[in-house]
Amino acid sequence: MKFDTPAGTNPIDRERVVGQPHERIDGRLKVTGTAPYAYEHHDVAENVAYGYVVGSAIAKGRITRLDSTAARRAPGVVAIVTHENAGELGKGDKNTAKLLGGPEVQHYHQAVAVVVADTFEQARAAAMMLDIAYESADGAFDLAAAKDTAPDAPSTEESPTQTGVGDFASAFASAPVKFEQSYTTPDQSHAMMEPHASLAEWNGDSVTVWTSNQMIAWGSADLAKTLKIAPEKVRIVSPFIGGGFGGKLFLRADAVMAALGAKAAGRPVKVALSRPMMANNTTHRPATIQRVRIGAERDGKITAIAHESWSGDLEGGQPEVATQQTRLLYAGANRMTSLKLAVLDLPEGNAMRAPGEAPGLMALEVAMDELAEQLGQDPVQFRILNDTQVDPEDPSRPFSQRRLADCFRQGAEKFGWSARNARPAQVRDGRWMVGMGVASAFRNNMNMDSGARARLGRDGVVTVETDMTDIGTGSYTIIAQTAAEMLGLPLDKVQVTLGDSMFPVSAGSGGQWGANSSTAGVYAACVKLREAIADKLGLDPASAEFVDGMVRAGDRQVPLAEAAAGGEIVAEDKIEFSKEMMKEKQQSTFGAHFVEVGVDMATAEVRVRRMLAVCAAGRILNPLTARSQVIGGMTMGVGGALMEDLVVDKRHGLFINHDLAGYEVPVHADIPHQEVVFLDETDPDVSPMKAKGVGELGLCGVSAAIANAIHNATGVRVRDYPITLDKLI
Ligand code: MOS
Repeated sequence: MKFDTPAGTNPIDRERVVGQPHERIDGRLKVTGTAPYAYEHHDVAENVAYGYVVGSAIAKGRITRLDSTAARRAPGVVAIVTHENAGELGKGDKNTAKLLGGPEVQHYHQAVAVVVADTFEQARAAAMMLDIAYESADGAFDLAAAKDTAPDAPSTEESPTQTGVGDFASAFASAPVKFEQSYTTPDQSHAMMEPHASLAEWNGDSVTVWTSNQMIAWGSADLAKTLKIAPEKVRIVSPFIGGGFGGKLFLRADAVMAALGAKAAGRPVKVALSRPMMANNTTHRPATIQRVRIGAERDGKITAIAHESWSGDLEGGQPEVATQQTRLLYAGANRMTSLKLAVLDLPEGNAMRAPGEAPGLMALEVAMDELAEQLGQDPVQFRILNDTQVDPEDPSRPFSQRRLADCFRQGAEKFGWSARNARPAQVRDGRWMVGMGVASAFRNNMNMDSGARARLGRDGVVTVETDMTDIGTGSYTIIAQTAAEMLGLPLDKVQVTLGDSMFPVSAGSGGQWGANSSTAGVYAACVKLREAIADKLGLDPASAEFVDGMVRAGDRQVPLAEAAAGGEIVAEDKIEFSKEMMKEKQQSTFGAHFVEVGVDMATAEVRVRRMLAVCAAGRILNPLTARSQVIGGMTMGVGGALMEDLVVDKRHGLFINHDLAGYEVPVHADIPHQEVVFLDETDPDVSPMKAKGVGELGLCGVSAAIANAIHNATGVRVRDYPITLDKLI
């Protein structure tokens, strides 16, 4: 089904099942520990051996000696795979560094060997006996030092890294009010609960990998490329994922090393990356240095806005697109954005939790707070004043929907914003200095083509099959809701099976496109299934109604199960999004984050006291799972503001605090009462579901709102994240 004109009225609009707060249909499996994660597929293969991945001990250079004689003689060892015996390997399209390094080493903890043994302990013990010598080369590990010579990040038509309209330089120079500041955000680690893990089993020249991966089709294509085998020889299965956060968007070393280990061992092999391997072996969010300049009239109208960001990555890598929101968020005739990309020899930077906007808003939204203060304006009013209904870079392009101002108005009312004292450091509660902060939430809405198959069985149950993943987000549930709505069935008459490359290719889970895109694909398949059912019964498909488990047309009414009495009815389709439509109108999601903090007068400890998010993101497919997404994002925003920081060892080129003891993330005790409000809207320009992404929106802007609240509480402006107490005292 092509989606190339705005959606009209359709069965989803009934909202009998979609739009209702259904609990997750996989909830019981999750909370009883019976949803199998990658390392827990105990019953799919026999005689499983265990692989232990060895990471490079240097950041850059060469392996000069790799002697496995002793390790091979260790008890239980079945196979050892290194670059010397792995055969020729390719590289996945989505990977920057090779997933098996050697003799050249591209980054610290790049995989250089997998040791396979009968037990995990034997594999680990033998891995310690590998004798590897390196010759280190000098590397660049310091973004600040590399910044001034960093070239423009490579541009593509879809994602230009240097943008401008009007004349920023002159407009800024002549602006009555000028603001300029720089901000830094650190390298960050996904720190999802489930580590990267895979179980690989060969059957002849075909391999099946049970793994933990957000994007099944990307993963299977890249595994085929890496192993240099035909794509149809690879099957990837990933039914449950214990968090991805962008770290599992791409094929990683666990899958490749399990496949190589299993081939060498002639047995199925399981590999889990140890927690201390994850920070340096896998990807991370790159650090940024950002400069924001804004010129305004005395009444607060922005006339000039510029945002530049510097980040680093391995040769051939990508920038953190921290300027993305600045191109679209506020009005202003003269504008420029620029992304510079330094080559750094740190581990690979890549997508993490709202890449681009999350760190970009950490700078822009503090800058907006600072400028509001300079202008003597209320930060909420200042943002509303500079709202726009059209793309500020191209005023001929409207937003499909944009209710940013509504989010601020409703949020201010609900949060009690009028009680805020605009003068910093005025409010006390015992030993706590108390302040409020606000920030815009903004994240683009992306759509990805997505396919699904729907089967009506003789028992009247509809089964949906798609390679869509559920990364803890609730995909199972909203997909079931979509099929139930389309076929007029209760939720328990729908079964959903996900995460298998044998199923139709879906949008996958990433960039908050998963919910809208994958359910739109299920919608398309269900439209076909409705037609096939009507056809079977000799009913007119155009007038057939599917409701209460029945198909109705004219004066006929037939139970769905009857339609399949003669055999299962199967339909498959995919939604294909028109690029033209996405160009004509800008599709984005909006919100406002309100935060209250307390800062301890003596220790400068920061406690977040209250949080409110108001979100405008099209139809909310399930308010319960959407709320969980948003409060998860808000929690990540607390991490970004106050805790998360991968510390770079600039001598040796690695992240030092590479486990959950050293890399701090919020825990329950850090998180106060959180409230989420969804504006009631549907967006027919986006998809037949009229929904948009909402998960990452929950994170975007939160850290800045916290930084702004800390300033309001204390009068101290910290522009270097995370805002740890040493920077406040
Ligand atoms: Mo997201 S960082 O695209 O999984």
